[in-house]
Amino acid sequence: MDLPLRPRRLRSSENMRRMARETRLSTDHLIAPLFVMDGDASREEAVSSMPGQSRMTVSRLVGEAKELSALGIPAVALFPAIPDAMKTPDARHATDPDHLYPNAVRALKREVPELLVITDTALDPYNSDGHDGIVRDGDIDNDATIEVMQEMAVVQAEAGADLIAPSDMMDGRVGALRRALDDEGHTDTAILSYTAKYASAYYGPFRDALDSDPRVREGVPEDKSTYQMDPANGEEAVRETMLDLEEGADMLMVKPALPYLDVIYRVKQVSDVPVAAYNVSGEYAQIKAAAQNGWLDEKECAMEALTGIRRAGADVILTYFAKDAARWMAE
Ligand code: PBG
Repeated sequence: MDLPLRPRRLRSSENMRRMARETRLSTDHLIAPLFVMDGDASREEAVSSMPGQSRMTVSRLVGEAKELSALGIPAVALFPAIPDAMKTPDARHATDPDHLYPNAVRALKREVPELLVITDTALDPYNSDGHDGIVRDGDIDNDATIEVMQEMAVVQAEAGADLIAPSDMMDGRVGALRRALDDEGHTDTAILSYTAKYASAYYGPFRDALDSDPRVREGVPEDKSTYQMDPANGEEAVRETMLDLEEGADMLMVKPALPYLDVIYRVKQVSDVPVAAYNVSGEYAQIKAAAQNGWLDEKECAMEALTGIRRAGADVILTYFAKDAARWMAE
C-alpha cells in the first residue's frame, strides 16, 4: 500500500512507546486513603468488601504510614470509624479536640512528619443518622451543618492536617471553611474540595468500612441525592468548579473517577489549580473481585485504570491501589 502515514511506527518497540507516551503515572500522583479505629494495641480489622484494606488502630496506622512514605507516596487521606455510642444527630463528637481522629492526625504528624495528611471534613462518621449533614425536618440543614464543619476543620488543622477535604457537598462550605481556618490563624492549611461528588452506588464498600450508611428510619432521607450530584450531570460540575475556585479552594476533586472521566476532563479544562480524582471503594472492589475469580489481571487492570484517570486530566488520584501501585512501579 502507498501509505505514508503509519501511526504504528510509534508503537514498534518499548523504547519507541516510552518516547511517544503522553501520560505519566508515578508515586507523585498517588494518595492512599486509610481507615483509623479506636484501640490501644497495634491491630487491624479487614474490610471484607475491600480485600487488602483494613481499619487500623493509631499505632498500626503509623506503621502503615511509614511504609507508604518510604514507597514515595506523598499523602494519605484519613477516615475515622467512630463507635456507634459516640454518634449523635448533631455529630458533635466531630468537634472534640481530643478524640480518635485528631489524635491520629497528631500521631501521624509526629511520627511521619513529611507525609501529608488530608483530613475528611464531613459529618457522616459522627452522625447517628448516617448523613454528611444534620437532618432536620426530614431534610439536610445546609447552614447548620457548615457551622459544625467549621469547628471540625479548625480542630483538624490544629492537630496538624496539611489539607482539609470537605467531602459533604453543602453549598458555600469552601468559603466558610476558609474563613474559619483563617480566623484561627491557619492560613497555611490548604483546602482540597470534593467539588463534583456524585450520589454514587460505588461508595458501598466504604460505607461498610465505616458503618456510615444513611439510616433507614422515618424522617431520615434514604439517600444522599439532595446534596451529592446527579450522575447524569456534567455541566453542573463546571458550575461547582467555578464556585469552589471563587470560594478559595486550593485543589479540586471529582469523585468517583472511572464512570466520570469526562467530568475530570471538563473540570481540569476550566480550572487553574490541581485536580484530584477519587478512585473509590466500589471501583477498587470491582477489580479485586474479578481478579479473585481469575477473570481479570489485577495489576494490569489497576495500572490501566490509574493511567486512564491521569489521561483524563487528574493530577493526583486517591486510590486504595496506592501501595500496590507504588510497589509495582518500583519492581
Ligand atoms: C462521606 C464519604 C464517602 C466516601 C468518602 N467520604 C461516602 C459517601 O459519601 O457516602 C466514599 C469513598 C469511597 O467509596 O471510597 N463523606
